[in-house]
Amino acid sequence: MTQENRVLIFDTTLRDGEQSPGATMSHAEKLEIAQMLDEMGVDIIEAGFPIASEGDFAAVSEIAKQTQNAQICGLARAQFPDIDRCWEAVKHARRPRIHTFIGTSPLHRAIPNLDKDQMAERIHATVTHARNLCDNVQWSPMDATRTEHDYLCRVVEIAIKAGATTINIPDTVGYTAPRESADLIRMLLERVPGADEVIFATHCHNDLGMATANALAAVEAGARQIECTINGLGERAGNTALEEVVMAMRVRHDIMPYDTGIDTTKIIGISRRVAAVSGFPVQYNKAIVGKNAFLHESGIHQDGVLKNVETFEIMRPADIGLNETNIAMGKHSGRAALRAKLRDLGYEVGDNQLKDIFVRFKALADRKKEVYDDDIVALMQDSAANTGDDHIQVKHLRVVCGSDGQSADLTLIVGGEERKVQATGDGPVDACFNAVKQIFPHQARLKLYQVHAVTEGTDAQATVSVRMEEDGRIVNGQAADTDTILASVKAYVGALNHLIMRRAQAGTDGRQISMYSH
Ligand code: KIV
Ligand code: ZN
Repeated sequence: MTQENRVLIFDTTLRDGEQSPGATMSHAEKLEIAQMLDEMGVDIIEAGFPIASEGDFAAVSEIAKQTQNAQICGLARAQFPDIDRCWEAVKHARRPRIHTFIGTSPLHRAIPNLDKDQMAERIHATVTHARNLCDNVQWSPMDATRTEHDYLCRVVEIAIKAGATTINIPDTVGYTAPRESADLIRMLLERVPGADEVIFATHCHNDLGMATANALAAVEAGARQIECTINGLGERAGNTALEEVVMAMRVRHDIMPYDTGIDTTKIIGISRRVAAVSGFPVQYNKAIVGKNAFLHESGIHQDGVLKNVETFEIMRPADIGLNETNIAMGKHSGRAALRAKLRDLGYEVGDNQLKDIFVRFKALADRKKEVYDDDIVALMQDSAANTGDDHIQVKHLRVVCGSDGQSADLTLIVGGEERKVQATGDGPVDACFNAVKQIFPHQARLKLYQVHAVTEGTDAQATVSVRMEEDGRIVNGQAADTDTILASVKAYVGALNHLIMRRAQAGTDGRQISMYSH
């Protein structure tokens, strides 16, 4: 590997990813994801937007303290108080970074009502200020791909002169295309004095489905940092997916001879964990990490793969941490077998977590003849989404349904206190949700209720997803159980628990902060 071909991986799952409506993670979840990112070899972790809320600040400072290898970056608008707050949070890191930005395109310049010269002055002042605090400063012209080229060159030059060490070129609205993405980086490298002394980064959004292609094209033109998220999580259609760019450069190293420091065998584990904690499931046919990404179901494919795996497979499941697993699981399987199975499926669990999963696994194995790999994945997601520490917990449910009407007897523990009700409704799920609402009254509107069978068969587990909205706050809940109605109640309660967490952040909530510097 030459230094010249080394591409830095800047992960923004905890900032741009978490900014996606409904993807809020708890403090503990953010710390856990940061640790996983560090272990997989991400070079820079953008841990949050410290001025956005007390919660963001606390998460960024804690991640800065705990992280062993990666640089820890915080986001700041082009304002001194933002930059100071960001520094306060990241300064504990072994290798801190301040990332400051301002929208430079005509549309974005109009919002803070700054003309070109005033904005240029602001950029000079804020980057200088950041650089006086920290020797590792990243600057981004937001909406760079819609900024006039002459002005973009001018402001990039100002940022470099003021001491920025990384210049990030965001395609904020997912508007560019591969050739244009490459041309833009090439143009900046050619025209901006001092460009060869800094790292150029690419930050793409996926509105037109081109984020991965655009990021790789930028690298071919000279960018040496890719900004991305796990599973492509992010606002609207999301960001460049880390797993896609990393695996593309690995599998097609012949035409994209670039290296990263990523341990690709950690990809599946972190993908599942991010899906579980963000409440954003991975689509089945998603590249690299989708459930079907390595599945060969048509006869012709199966035949070819059996004869020579390379016939239809360009990478091996093991490359991303999915191991062929021969351990059949059932009610006689012990803890060691469960741990081995979890490892095969990409999960590393500590002793305490294993103890908890084992209890749930035994309960499932008692109810199901065969416990498939997908059942165990669903079990892990359920246990991640519904912990014993939640404010509201489901204690007991009994549902009556059939032609004479439907009713639910429900017992919840709310803040440690047991509450029971009976409710009716149009169908068993409606009766249960009415019961929850009687115990815990709220104004949130149900936006999504979705049921998936995890495997085949009438004893299959159901995974239920619930999304709710209250005052612009969107929250998700997810649960799995062989009893679809119980899974529905647990998912609904899970969403309420997220809502409670979000209400506690209200006032200083990151979602409400404007991205504009005034
Ligand atoms: O998409 C974007 O422009 C951003 C910036 C804050 C870098 O996320
Ligand atoms: Zn972005």
